[in-house]
Amino acid sequence: MNTWKASAPANIALIKYMGKEEGNVSTNASLSMTLSSFTTSVELSLIEENDHRWEPLSQSLSLTPKGRDRYLSFFRFLCEQLSLNQKFLVRSGNNFPADAGLASSASSFAALTMAAVQAQAEIKGTSQIDILSAAKLSRKGSGSSCRSFISPWCRWENEEIRAVPSSLPPLVDLVLVAADESKKVTSSSAHQRVRTSALFEGRVERASIRLRKLEDAMKAGNLQQVAEESWAELWDMHSLFHTSQPPFFYFAPGTMKALRWAEDHWEEKGRGPITTIDAGPNVHFLVPQAEVEYYRREITALGFPVLESGS
Ligand code: DP6
Repeated sequence: MNTWKASAPANIALIKYMGKEEGNVSTNASLSMTLSSFTTSVELSLIEENDHRWEPLSQSLSLTPKGRDRYLSFFRFLCEQLSLNQKFLVRSGNNFPADAGLASSASSFAALTMAAVQAQAEIKGTSQIDILSAAKLSRKGSGSSCRSFISPWCRWENEEIRAVPSSLPPLVDLVLVAADESKKVTSSSAHQRVRTSALFEGRVERASIRLRKLEDAMKAGNLQQVAEESWAELWDMHSLFHTSQPPFFYFAPGTMKALRWAEDHWEEKGRGPITTIDAGPNVHFLVPQAEVEYYRREITALGFPVLESGS
């Protein structure tokens, strides 16, 4: 029996995709770093059944019935786009704990697309579609997944998905897991709700100015400036959440503790991590690989589990 396997990394955005329009069209350009240690693996195999079916590949992933429907419905879309008429068993699993509160939609939609692209090439006897076309397909399933195709830094704006030049040293993401409960508001629904915030007006301009400054700082290897833009962006996105109608809130006590630590560190030592938070309570600290031991000790001392990934 033929099996097609692929795996894809998660990514963490410093400039966020938030407030999307129909069809995962982003209102502003976003920029992220891939997280090569947090991956989803997908295996596809042919089945003689009437419809596609999903199964977990490992113990770590349990998709909710809603999550499974979304995943399989995107797979149906992929098969249509790639002219695949067969039915498949779709197996997927993350190598990071499901309860760590890390976004897995980027890695899982990217890996599914990569596996489908491989299956298409082999079944049809053609060469594989190029990586950008694959990323654009994946974007229809989950917007942020298109950034998982380009490593280490990727910028996505409308139909353009490209690598970002950087003179920063190699960075490691230390994730402080402030809470592991599942989200009350999914990121897909956060996208809709932020549009009701009075602060949404001007969001596109703010994000695009910040992105420009961030790209300049990355090119210049200016870590402090990158950290400042990332800090401003995390508060911008979370302020949209806090002022939506009705408002919603992801921060946990550990989130505030971690943010205060980062602020104090910069204040006292004149250096520190690049800090960001997604639609969740966990705090991502991007630090130079050469200093990871030091930061791991500091962050672990805050009393929460810490996960780690390079780009
Ligand atoms: C806060 O890509 O999860 O992580 O397109 O509905 O799947 P869908 O949304 P998703 O949104 C990501 C939101 C974010 C910011 C980001 O990664 O840019």
